[in-house]
Amino acid sequence: MKVLSVASEAVPLVKTGGLADVAGALPGAVAQHGVAMTTLLPGYPSVLKALPRARTVHSWDSLLGTSARLLSGKLGEHPLLVLDAPALYDREGSPYSDAAGRDWDDNWRRFAALGRAAADIAGGAIVKRGKPQGFDLVHAHDWQAAMAPAYLHFAPLGTEAVPSVVTIHNMAFQGWFDRKAFAQMGLPASAWTMHGVEYHDGVGMLKAGLACAAAVTTVSPTYAREIRTGTFGMGLEGLIIARGNAVSGILNGIDIDRWNPGRDKALAETYTWRTLERRLANKRALEAEFGLDEDDGPLFIAVTRLTWQKGMDVIPQVLDHLVGLGGRLALLGSGDPEIERALFEGAARHQGRVAIRLGYDEDLSHRMQGGGDAILVPSRFEPCGLTQLYGLAYGCIPVVSRTGGLADTVIDANPAALAAGCATGIQHDGVSHDALSAALTRAAQLYRQGEVWHRVQKNAMKCDFSWTASGKAYADLYRSLIA
Ligand code: ADP
Ligand code: GLC
Repeated sequence: MKVLSVASEAVPLVKTGGLADVAGALPGAVAQHGVAMTTLLPGYPSVLKALPRARTVHSWDSLLGTSARLLSGKLGEHPLLVLDAPALYDREGSPYSDAAGRDWDDNWRRFAALGRAAADIAGGAIVKRGKPQGFDLVHAHDWQAAMAPAYLHFAPLGTEAVPSVVTIHNMAFQGWFDRKAFAQMGLPASAWTMHGVEYHDGVGMLKAGLACAAAVTTVSPTYAREIRTGTFGMGLEGLIIARGNAVSGILNGIDIDRWNPGRDKALAETYTWRTLERRLANKRALEAEFGLDEDDGPLFIAVTRLTWQKGMDVIPQVLDHLVGLGGRLALLGSGDPEIERALFEGAARHQGRVAIRLGYDEDLSHRMQGGGDAILVPSRFEPCGLTQLYGLAYGCIPVVSRTGGLADTVIDANPAALAAGCATGIQHDGVSHDALSAALTRAAQLYRQGEVWHRVQKNAMKCDFSWTASGKAYADLYRSLIA
């Protein structure tokens, strides 16, 4: 079975968040289940630079008005196609915004073109020795790829119907654009309906994908239920409910080759659940790196986008409490300037106890998981979340809000779970000063009971976070749609 996975980012070529981790790991996850997955990415400068010897396998004179080439390369060991359209992607900045953080004005064209190209490729635009090299199915991730199912539905190129799956990694980003864009998208007038791309009198790219795809998935079972409600569905709950059983939740896995404390070259000392005592060297190194006091109290960490979604506005409010418990905090992230400022203010008040690093640093994030005692993930909503999974794998105990994938992956250390020997972390209900303070207190109390804490760490590290089960779930879904 040949599947074309379409995404706006994928490790190791381009990453702004968890989507990249997932898109990068998926080909390997489904390969063991008989799926040959090719990934299609936009040709941003970082992607083209990594593929100096890529071959051109197709070209378009006009792809939504711009010329484009399709290059063939590798994503790790798996086939990669890159949409090289300099007018759309050859610019400095993030995949979605300029250096000042403003979304590119032509994002609708940049990502509608990605969807159009995906539909062309899957439908048979690439011809080798006279034979179209189409795909059996298209798997589109988030709004940036979600026009692919709409093009396949309303303006297919080949003769065979190609089914598609849309995965929602985050309902908060929907790709809504002014209705003026519609006329330039190369879709028939019939696509402008509430069952097509029209959404609140504009173009809704995610909405179009959700309406047109054969199946919709999201990245945890709890989030799949939550998006049926107004709070989490963010306007699309009606459509999600209407799609009924076509919507399901498949939990993300993690790449256990990249995230393995037993072999992680970023760490001062590698370890497994059998050699937990070796973690201490990583803790000491982390304290030194962040300029924190060296002591035996709990060292909390956070590695995150600094946004309201992630509950990071509440962290500055609980710093006094955290420090009062004898804790310290090392935080790595960037985002909302208001939150950054409040965090720095807190750090200034608590020198040696709270330290903030602004920016994005993959290696440092590994050192933090390997040296921190507990990772804070107080998200207001969290489709899946990966940092708590990395925390579990590294014995850095997750302290999380009970929502989305956080609810599905962490077992709260309540008395029953402790007695049964299956607790892996701490959960709190709601994201507020009080809820987070209570969770920090529980974490510090548990930490002080050395043996109990070590038991929780071992439980966490022994969990299976690999892609094995979810890779099979995706492969089974693809198969059911092709049949
Ligand atoms: P989201 O995609 O919503 O930001 P996830 O938890 O799914 O949340 O994924 C975030 C990914 O980005 C993880 O791999 C995490 O380690 C990484 N990450 C987030 N912020 C930083 C940072 N400042 N430096 C390094 N890695 C980061
Ligand atoms: C999104 C979500 C996050 C999820 C990631 C990968 O960025 O916010 O919860 O883990 O996608 O699916």
